[in-house]
Amino acid sequence: MLEIVGLAVSFGAAPALRGVGLRVAAGEAVSVLGANGAGKTTLLRAIMRRLPLDAGAIRIAGEDCGRLTTAQIVRRGVALCPEGRQLFQAMTVEDNLLLGAYGSPSRIARARLETVLGRVPWLRARLRQLAGSFSGGEQQMVAICRSLMGAPRLLLLDEPSSGLSPVAIAQIREMLQTVRHEDGMTMLLVEQNVALATALTTRCTVLNRGTVAFEGATASMADAGDLAEAYLGGAPS
Ligand SMILES: Nc1ncnc2c1ncn2[C@@H]1O[C@H](COP(=O)(O)OP(=O)(O)O)[C@@H](O)[C@H]1O
Ligand SMILES: [Mg+2]
Repeated sequence: MLEIVGLAVSFGAAPALRGVGLRVAAGEAVSVLGANGAGKTTLLRAIMRRLPLDAGAIRIAGEDCGRLTTAQIVRRGVALCPEGRQLFQAMTVEDNLLLGAYGSPSRIARARLETVLGRVPWLRARLRQLAGSFSGGEQQMVAICRSLMGAPRLLLLDEPSSGLSPVAIAQIREMLQTVRHEDGMTMLLVEQNVALATALTTRCTVLNRGTVAFEGATASMADAGDLAEAYLGGAPS
């Protein structure tokens, strides 16, 4: 579903990604782990074509997508649930969700809203509330639902557990597990929470300062204390 080869991205003279490769098969979930500044968000933004590529290829379902626009990537069925959730705080939850189906006929958007509400039933009674009145965990749930409103075939998630309590993280985990197993959604999950990554993915890629430092079983990150500490524990860089 997603194949990245030799990807390089830089900000001015500063390289953010160098020679990054990654594959996610259809129906698979893969995580990308790494400390702050490792290049995880840059990778997701590059996939969405929000950043120019210096080198490398991004293929989605076999198609070379390195020159497409963001809108074309979205039309290929890729959705990003961004870092920091990025809801419109002064808009209702319903309007935030409908933005996720922007460009679709309203009949289809309404049908997708029903599907999403089937996944998160408590949202129905709270659709008219402002997104800004929701807790962090509730907002993350809405952000994930918004990314599902486009009926994606590949879902990119940027640190969905960030800043949330253990209880909220458990709710996010359950929802993503449902989306993964009942809908068979293909996912690329960026996380620093190894437990969440282990619950949702079998394979992981660890980024360290813009390069792939490790590829293998996500569960091995939970065991390999040294590796986890070196790459995730905020080791001085
Ligand atoms: N818009 C930007 N302008 C300049 N540098 C950036 C920008 N975004 C990210 N970077 C730099 O690129 C590197 C990777 O950042 P990022 O992808 O956000 O890391 P992560 O998501 O893993 O924390 C960091 O060194 C960061 O400072
Ligand atoms: Mg980030």
